[in-house]
Amino acid sequence: MKKRQELYAGKAKSVYYTDDPDRLILQFRDDTSAFDGRKKEALSRKGMVNNKFNAFIMGKLEEAGVGTHFDGLVSDTECVVKKLEMIPVECVIRNIAAGGLCKRLGIEEGRELDPPTFELFLKNDELHDPMINESLAETLGFATPEQLARMKVLTYQVNDVLKALFAAGGILLVDYKLEFGLFKDEILLGDEFSPDGCRLWDAKTREKFDKDRFRQGLGGVIEAYEEVGRRIGVSFD
Ligand code: C5P
Repeated sequence: MKKRQELYAGKAKSVYYTDDPDRLILQFRDDTSAFDGRKKEALSRKGMVNNKFNAFIMGKLEEAGVGTHFDGLVSDTECVVKKLEMIPVECVIRNIAAGGLCKRLGIEEGRELDPPTFELFLKNDELHDPMINESLAETLGFATPEQLARMKVLTYQVNDVLKALFAAGGILLVDYKLEFGLFKDEILLGDEFSPDGCRLWDAKTREKFDKDRFRQGLGGVIEAYEEVGRRIGVSFD
């Protein structure tokens, strides 16, 4: 497969056309950003770590029957994916209170959320990804009720699979964000799953192993991502 011109450069990944009109190449860069791009830094090895982490997770999800856009790795920092028509809605599940939920509702960090909560956000940098709901998504044409229902089912299915996977490595899956898109009328999981888009805590000490280390200036960001990978069986060689 040949890489062609750049389609889009996001905050941490670049997307390229290929010689196959149905496939794109995602390149994971070392760039790391938080707070709507106000905090930025290049962290050595991050592109490679997140590319391999994402490939491992997408493989586990496919094995469990969750359809994803992932086709395969092409280099240390690149993978091939199906070209989706993205749905501009972010799906968030929270198993434990942290981040935006604590800020918004004054809930203490670390409170167990049972049942886990499901939230929708509009993917829009200029508006800072505002929270929306199913009614707004439907009326404003971001997604159909059928698509929203399917995205919700898939997001919960991902929770079952990944909570167990991380638990086996002594890690709590606190929360995560997923994005979906359409490929020939089927809803597939798109974007990435890496410690950039979820919260992962040590089950015993509650030490943070995710992008909050970067957001909060705790240091050791990539070492923490690698530690999670090591515990769940990701190979970074
Ligand atoms: O910030 P908040 O607590 O709402 O984020 C919930 C989860 O979704 C976190 O794991 C965060 O990293 C992820 N997220 C993301 N991209 C966004 C918004 C949230 O990866 N634009």
